[in-house]
Amino acid sequence: MSAAEAGLRNDGRALGRGDRPIGFGLVPEEDRAKMSVVKINAIDVPAARGEEIAKRFAARIGEVDNQDGFEEFQLLRPQDERDTWLVYTRWRDDDAFNAWVTSSAFVRGHAQPEGDTRPVGTHSELWEFSVEQRNVASNSHPS
Ligand code: HEM
Repeated sequence: MSAAEAGLRNDGRALGRGDRPIGFGLVPEEDRAKMSVVKINAIDVPAARGEEIAKRFAARIGEVDNQDGFEEFQLLRPQDERDTWLVYTRWRDDDAFNAWVTSSAFVRGHAQPEGDTRPVGTHSELWEFSVEQRNVASNSHPS
């Protein structure tokens, strides 16, 4: 009987809730995240428009949260002299991200809100990474 059939991980421990079988083995949650990809939308926002972008994201529709392969989102506000806000997203793989950006959920997530419809950003670019290493504090639940 294989470890997977026995409900065990490669290290012999019982399969936990965050564990997922892939291929012939089992990959624990903390290793799975290492294979993720990070896609950051870097948006230049003049300081005077900072509260507007914060407001728009506070009213975001949240559909991305239910996308297959979506793992994490963070809106990062600059705390130095820069005007670049980062929309940090983490995905299972490129296919999951590409499926979302070509979906109607993406379009809905970027529909112009009522009221002030002027763009908040003067420039934006996509930064793409693969997660090379990842660690979380041992007393925090990995997300
Ligand atoms: C042309 C470039 C883009 C600009 C200027 C932009 C700006 C915005 C703004 C202002 C919002 C808040 C909702 C709204 O007001 O429409 C939003 C939502 C969002 N954006 Fe973008 N965005 C762009 C492309 C992207 C890309 C490439 C990504 C992926 C890295 C991304 C990730 C997100 C996410 C995750 C949300 C929340 C959607 C949800 O809750 O379902 N954006 N974006």
